[in-house]
Amino acid sequence: MGLSTTSQQKHRICSFEGFFSYNSMCFKKDEVDQSTFEQASDLNVESSVKIKGELKEDERAPEGFEVKAEGIEVAHEADRFPITKEQSTSFLLDKRHLWLRSRKLTNTLKLRSTVIKAARDFFDSNGWYEVQPPVVTSSACEGGTTLFDLDYFDEDAYLSQSGQMYAEALIYSLDKVYCLAPSFRAEKSRTPRHLTEYWHLEPEAAWVDHKENMEIQEKMISHIIQKVIGERSFELEKLERDIEILKKIKTPFPRITYEKALEILNEDKFNLSWGEDLGIKEERFLTKDREKPLIVEKYPLEAKAFYMKSDPEDEDVVLCNDMLAPEGYGEIIGGSERETDNQILIDRLKKEGADLDNYEWYLDLRKYGSVPHSGFGLGVERLIRWIADLDHIRDAIAFPRTPRRYSP
Ligand code: 4AD
Ligand code: MG
Repeated sequence: MGLSTTSQQKHRICSFEGFFSYNSMCFKKDEVDQSTFEQASDLNVESSVKIKGELKEDERAPEGFEVKAEGIEVAHEADRFPITKEQSTSFLLDKRHLWLRSRKLTNTLKLRSTVIKAARDFFDSNGWYEVQPPVVTSSACEGGTTLFDLDYFDEDAYLSQSGQMYAEALIYSLDKVYCLAPSFRAEKSRTPRHLTEYWHLEPEAAWVDHKENMEIQEKMISHIIQKVIGERSFELEKLERDIEILKKIKTPFPRITYEKALEILNEDKFNLSWGEDLGIKEERFLTKDREKPLIVEKYPLEAKAFYMKSDPEDEDVVLCNDMLAPEGYGEIIGGSERETDNQILIDRLKKEGADLDNYEWYLDLRKYGSVPHSGFGLGVERLIRWIADLDHIRDAIAFPRTPRRYSP
C-alpha cells in the first residue's frame, strides 16, 4: 500500500494489528461536510467502515501513518461495545466471544496457531503419520477418577482422556503416528493449569524405547520454540515475554530420576513418601529457578498409569517420564515405554478394579503380535501457557472449558 495516495480502505474502527486504529483516522471538521463528520463521530467502536482519504506518514500514529479522511461509508454499525477498560475476569469470560478481539488474546491465538503448525511440521517432516482417534470411548486410559460419563443410547461410554490406546493400535500398520485431538478430564480442581477440555498431542512409535522417547520430546519442544521465536517475536514482545529465556531452550534438557526429585524436595520443606506423584507445588519448586525444561523419569508404578513398562533394572519403577516446563510452570508432557506383556497388563488392570471387557481390544494388541514401543502426550495449552508466560491456562485457548464454564 503506497503512502500519500488517495485510496478507498476497508476499515473497522478498532485498534488491532492489521487495521487502522481510531486514532489514525483524521476527520477534520472544516475539511469534510458536516454529515460525514457527525456520522464518523457517532460510530461506536467495532463498527466497520470504508474510508476514502489520503494516507500520510505520521510517526505519532500507532501504525506509522494517518488517514486524512474525506468520506465514510458504514458497512456495519455496532452497538456500544460491552467491554470497557476495568472489567472483572468473570465478566470477560462471559463475554469471551467478544474479548477474543483484545490484543492479548489476538497475540496469543496467533502464537497458538504457530505452535500447532510447528508441532505438525516436526512430525510430518520426519516420516510420522497423523491419525485421528475417537472421542467417544468405552475404555479409560488414565484411570476412572477423571472420566466424563456419557449416556450412549443407554450404554455407558466416556469422553476420551487420551488418544494413546488408539494410537498404539495404529503403529502396527503405520509405524510412527501422532494425533492431535481434544482430551477431556473431569477434574474439579480449579488451578491455573487445568482445563476440562484440552488439546492433546500424542505421538506413538514402534521400535522406540524409553530413552529415544525422551529424545523425541526434547527435539520436538526445541523445534517448536525455535519456530515460535522465528515467526512470532512481535507477538511475544507484545505479550511481554522475555525472548532471551526462550532462546536457551535447546537440547539436551536436564534429567533426574523420580528418586532424585524426592530427595531434592524432602531436603527442603516437602515431606513426600515414595510412591506419591508430584503435584503443582512440587513441580514448581523443582523448576522455578530453571531456564530449560526438566525431565523427571522412572516414577513408581503406583504413581502412574497401568500401561507403562517396568524398568528391567529396577522393578519398583516404570520406564516413564514427565517433562516439566521451567520458570515454575511444571508438567507439560507425560510419556512412557509401553508394557507389551499381556499378563502384566491384565494383573494391573485387575488390581485397579477395571472391567477387563472394556480392555479386550487393547489386550488383543499384545496377544496378536506386538513390538517394543513408546509414546507421550503433550498438553497444548500448557505448552502455550509457558511459552507466552500466561497467568492462567484458559488464555491459551479461545473458548476455555473449566469446571464452571462451558459457554460461550
Ligand atoms: O500425563 P497425562 O495424563 O498422560 C496421558 O494422558 C498419556 N496417555 C499420554 C500419552 O502417553 N500418550 O496427560 C498428558 C499431558 C500432561 O502432561 C499435560 O500436559 C496435559 O496432558 N494435561 C492437561 N492439560 C490441561 N488440562 C488438564 N486437565 C490436563 N491433564 C493433562
Ligand atoms: Mg501426567
